[in-house]
Parts: sequence; structure tokens; C-alpha cells
Amino acid sequence: MQAYDSIAEEYRDSKQLPFRDHLERYTLFQLLGDVRGKTVLDMACGEGFYTRLLKRAGASEVTGVDISAEMIRLAEDQEARHPLGCRYVRADAAAFQPEGTVDRVVAMYLLNYARTAEELGRFCRACHDALKPGGRLIGVNDNVRNVPTGTASLAKYGLERSCPNPAAEGDVIRYTITNTDGRRFRFDNFYLTPETYEAAFRKAGFRGFRWVDFRLHPSQKGNPFWDDFLSNPPIAAFMATR
Ligand SMILES: C[S@@+](CC[C@H](N)C(=O)[O-])C[C@H]1O[C@@H](n2cnc3c(N)ncnc32)[C@H](O)[C@@H]1O
Repeated sequence: MQAYDSIAEEYRDSKQLPFRDHLERYTLFQLLGDVRGKTVLDMACGEGFYTRLLKRAGASEVTGVDISAEMIRLAEDQEARHPLGCRYVRADAAAFQPEGTVDRVVAMYLLNYARTAEELGRFCRACHDALKPGGRLIGVNDNVRNVPTGTASLAKYGLERSCPNPAAEGDVIRYTITNTDGRRFRFDNFYLTPETYEAAFRKAGFRGFRWVDFRLHPSQKGNPFWDDFLSNPPIAAFMATR
């Protein structure tokens, strides 16, 4: 049984929280650019939220990979009810062997499941090897450049994030999410230093790895509601090129 098997529906419904749309989704698609006609691998696809959006945005082929049977079941259920042509595979992303290479790999909250530099290296290598030369990896991760001190409450966004202070390699970063309907659930990520991330990307063969600050959807510009999130971002985007 994988961690997300028991929280799959709660996690799916957390996509209704406003930060998902105005920050997470907007930033991802800004960084991806035009995906029309591109082949995409969605690593740690969960119940397929971004897999479907990528296909709807015009990607020619999108494959979602996730280790949780329940997440894949929800994704396939959506595909059966509203067919888009998304393909799903239940697998450990670290060991995933793609049939061919793709133009883009998306990794939304995969890398923060690595507990060690070695595990992170395996995720990075799998993403790298799945890409065509010149292809890009884009994702979102726990923001290891901004370790919470004690329990950082971002409650108005439906988020709480805590970890030991100071944080050491492999420490648990615990997220508690409160959905728009009040349901709460938890999951754990793992802390690795920014230096460990940089080394893992380099060793996997990536060029130009960089963290990217979140971008706010233009409709929200000037809305002070987002100030606390943006001045203390719990999550960060990243990109790298094969
Ligand atoms: C926070 S959810 C994100 C889901 C999706 N990317 C999204 O943004 O909606 C993290 C996902 O990572 C998956 N996951 C964790 N470790 C994994 C691994 N080793 N291989 C593949 N998926 C993994 C979990 O099952 C879960 O679905």
C-alpha cells in the first residue's frame, strides 16, 4: 500500500484550492510554453490532473506514471468517463523504463519523495533518460531553499508545513492540507539540501538546472491575499534541459 492510496480522493479535491490554479498551474504552463504536438511524460501524475490538462493543451501523447494504485485507478476512471487519450502506468518513477523518449517531462511533486541523495539521483536519471536531447524537465517541488522554522502556517491557503529546525538530509517535511470543504489530510515529503539537488541534476546529465519562483496569474496581480505565500513560498518550480 502506497501513502497516497488512502488520501487519493482528498488529494484530488485539493486541486480546488485557489493556490493550485493561480500559482501552481499558471507557473507550470508558463514554463512549459506551447505543448501542442509535443510528447510528454508526467512523472508522479497522481490522479491525472496535469496529465489531462497537458493533453487538453494539445500535447500529442501524454503518459502518466504513478506508484499509487489508487491514484492510477482514479486517473483511469476519468479517462474511461471522458476519454482524452491519456495513458497511465503504475510504476516507481525511479525505475520507469519508457518505450521511447519525449519532448517534455513534467514532475509535479515527485523529487521531494527522495529520502536520500541516491534516491534523488535515481529520479533525476529516470527523468533525464526519458527526454530527447534538448528536451526539458519542468516541475514543482517542496521549496528546499525555504525551510520552515517550526510550523509555518499558510492556513489561509489551506496549507501547513512543518519540519525539524534546523533540517537535516532526509528529515520529514509534513504537509497538512485543508480542502475547500474543510476536510484535512496529511502527507510527508523529505528534506534534502539545495546542494544535493544541484549535484543530482548535474550527475544525471542535465544542463541549466534552476529553481524558478512562482508566477502569479495576471488576474490576481495586486491582490494582497497572495503576499504571505509569495514572500514565504513553501513550494518552488524548477527546470532543466537534457
Ligand atoms: C503530491 S502528489 C502530486 C500528484 C500530481 N503530480 C499533481 O500535481 O496533481 C505526489 C504523487 O507522487 C506519487 N509518488 C510518490 N513517490 C513516487 C514514486 N517513487 N514513483 C512514482 N510516483 C510516486 C504519489 O503516489 C502521488 O500521487
